[in-house]
Amino acid sequence: MSITDKSFIGSIPELYDRLMVPLIFEPYARDLAARALALAPRSVLEVAAGTGAVTRALAARLPADTKLVATDLNQPMLDQARKQMADAPHIIFRQADAQALPFDDAQFDAVLCQFGAMFFPDRAKAYREAKRVLKPGGHYLFNVWGRIEDNEFADEVTRTLALLFPSDPPRFLARTPHGYHDPDKIRADLRAAAFEDISIMPLEAVSTAPSPGEAAMAYCQGTPLRSEIEARGGSLEEATRTAAEALARRFGRGAISGRIQALVVAAG
Ligand SMILES: C[S@@+](CC[C@H](N)C(=O)[O-])C[C@H]1O[C@@H](n2cnc3c(N)ncnc32)[C@H](O)[C@@H]1O
Repeated sequence: MSITDKSFIGSIPELYDRLMVPLIFEPYARDLAARALALAPRSVLEVAAGTGAVTRALAARLPADTKLVATDLNQPMLDQARKQMADAPHIIFRQADAQALPFDDAQFDAVLCQFGAMFFPDRAKAYREAKRVLKPGGHYLFNVWGRIEDNEFADEVTRTLALLFPSDPPRFLARTPHGYHDPDKIRADLRAAAFEDISIMPLEAVSTAPSPGEAAMAYCQGTPLRSEIEARGGSLEEATRTAAEALARRFGRGAISGRIQALVVAAG
């Protein structure tokens, strides 16, 4: 993993929240929140909560006296989340690395993590931390993206940027968000953290954007792909325009939609 892969900072949190979250994260946030709500937890920890896509979906439906703690490695992501949830002071936001959680043992009925595990350098360590802070019988629910080929916009943007930077293609999307989708590997990492009851299921959804330009902007400027383009001395505007043209050729010029796929994991 490159050092910039986990740097959701600078202009990224605002663009991520405004463009990426509606593009690909909201359907899965609703799904993860519904799975958590079905467990009727009294205390929930979210790790890698980002700008709060799942936190919002949960907070809207959890009883107000449920303890809800949302954490992320990058404080600017949590600042963006807090802005959106200023009217929910009972939600606790706290900066934390998922691999070293600042909580005592056996504190939570459920630990949730939406599209964060791919960013953890030592996943078994992060899973051990989740296990440690869960009460006995508690539930760990998370999701990860499927193969990039099954996520059409991400695939198209990655292929297009490879043509723009042929000597050193920006591979962030393939390497990290779409780099951890082997169920056997996920199961082995969870077993290494003493999880025994594990289910992993694919979940397809449809990603929609008002225009190819907005989808291109989301990927090229609202994710760490931005830092890869800048590190190559590339113009963000040109990269975004080129990606938008490729998306328009493949998906059309008005509102566009493409297939997305993830794996949903439950472990106890
Ligand atoms: C793709 S975003 C997902 C954010 C959010 N869960 C969502 O659904 O929009 C990945 C998040 O993982 C966070 N992250 C990266 N490494 C982390 C770590 N070691 N511990 C906790 N969070 C981490 C990033 O800051 C970023 O907010």
